Amino acid sequence: MNQKLATLLKELEEFGKTNDATVTDRTRKMLNITRDTGEFLLLIARAIEARRILEIGTSNGYSTLWLAYAVQQLSGTVTTVERSQFKADMARANFERVSMTPWIQQHLGDATDFLKQQADNSFGLIFLDSDRQEYTGWWSDLQRILTLGGLMIVDNAVSHESEMKRFVDIVQLTPGYLTSLVPVGNGEFLVLKQPVGR
Ligand SMILES: C[S@@+](CC[C@H](N)C(=O)[O-])C[C@H]1O[C@@H](n2cnc3c(N)ncnc32)[C@H](O)[C@@H]1O
Repeated sequence: MNQKLATLLKELEEFGKTNDATVTDRTRKMLNITRDTGEFLLLIARAIEARRILEIGTSNGYSTLWLAYAVQQLSGTVTTVERSQFKADMARANFERVSMTPWIQQHLGDATDFLKQQADNSFGLIFLDSDRQEYTGWWSDLQRILTLGGLMIVDNAVSHESEMKRFVDIVQLTPGYLTSLVPVGNGEFLVLKQPVGR
């Protein structure tokens, strides 16, 4: 990792902590993933050689930078969706600062509409870090746009276990998927869309 990116990631970690501890308006909190979750996303994305990644919930782009760094060497792309103009603008400035824009496609808008518009089998890795109340409603489109053999990672599976329970139950009752709860950061729920015949 180059020094510019390493420095920005550290800066964003400090900014996120200070900002979220002082700001009272939730829409102005960054709510970034933890650093070890970033390292985990990087490792997984590299291990599965993900080239087409979708992230729901950009915020100011902290997690996006980890994912973009992961796909850079394979000339992949991260598509990231955020409905807050304020946060999308912060993210864009961060991506530009470390020259990561060639690997990132930002989409400003609501994820519900965005997901409906995506073609089948579009993404090999999906990272969900957004409004947890929406996940069950998104499940049908998420299944459709995830490639066979693709992986979905959902943040906050431990920190917000009760809010995630209905979604986790529905996923685990859906045939064709393997799941695992990984105790990294705020708890990552991994969902593998099994290749046919497994
Ligand atoms: C937990 S934060 C994302 C943090 C980011 N992944 C990171 O680690 O840096 C969740 C973000 O999802 C956005 N969001 C929530 N519901 C959304 C929706 N339905 N469509 C698009 N963005 C949404 C919020 O505005 C917020 O910025």
